[in-house]
Amino acid sequence: MMTEPTTAPADKDFLPGPVLLLGAPGVGKGTQAKALMAAYGIPQISTGDILRANIANGSELGRSAKALMDQGQLVPDDLVNQMVWHKILDENLYRGFILDGYPRTLAQADYIDSAINEDPKSPVRMPLVAISIVVDYEQLLHRITGRRICPLGHIFNIYSNPSMAPGICDVDGSVLVQRPDDSEAVFTERMKTFESQTAPVIEHYRKQGRFEEIDGDQPVEQVTGAIEAALKRLRTSKR
Ligand code: AP5
Repeated sequence: MMTEPTTAPADKDFLPGPVLLLGAPGVGKGTQAKALMAAYGIPQISTGDILRANIANGSELGRSAKALMDQGQLVPDDLVNQMVWHKILDENLYRGFILDGYPRTLAQADYIDSAINEDPKSPVRMPLVAISIVVDYEQLLHRITGRRICPLGHIFNIYSNPSMAPGICDVDGSVLVQRPDDSEAVFTERMKTFESQTAPVIEHYRKQGRFEEIDGDQPVEQVTGAIEAALKRLRTSKR
């Protein structure tokens, strides 16, 4: 059974630049970010993964984020904004990067739009493009409750992408776990948060142009192919 999404080799001369991957909980942002990272050699910046790493190492940020995450609420904007911008300043971003799970409030969108354009230290030389992945509610619930992850972030699903040995990561042999926020009850709260706070962010980028919506209810490789085609269109059009 496949453990990581595969995709046809991407055009090595193509620079994706900064890419926002937007969408509801469980829509496949992490799965697709890893596929794009492999295809283009650009880093994934996942706010959820960074926050979970902080919880695992017991940092002050992790301690303040945990209760909110376990209830399906968002972590305060300033904490997340600082975390993301420091990461962007620290990484080698010539070919671009994939922001997975950020921005998810209008205040975060305003922050990143301004930081990229106005911070004299900004390494970003191309405009942001936004990809919104869409999957219906029942499928999201199925994906969330079936997801299992390892401590290094490899993603499996007991229904659609099980590991070869049940409960063991194919890549590093560690024990797979269910995220504390992947219960049906917390998923319901996460969806309310998504509708009230993140859906307006998607509209913000849709109105700006440089935006495409992708049907996420297809096999992983087809979603990846659709995103790669969309990125090519977005980077070659005059929008
Ligand atoms: P975060 O970790 O970002 O969670 P999320 O946005 O809710 O997204 P998920 O990680 O649940 O899903 P995904 O879209 O990445 O799907 P995946 O690829 O894993 O955030 C967690 C929490 O952190 C938030 O609730 C909040 O508290 C806090 N936080 C994070 N960012 C923040 C921010 N910017 N501001 C404030 N707070 C923030 O796929 C899901 C499952 O489906 C997997 O099992 C996968 O194998 C399967 N799957 C994927 N694609 C397919 C496919 N095409 N077909 C079948 N199965 C598939």
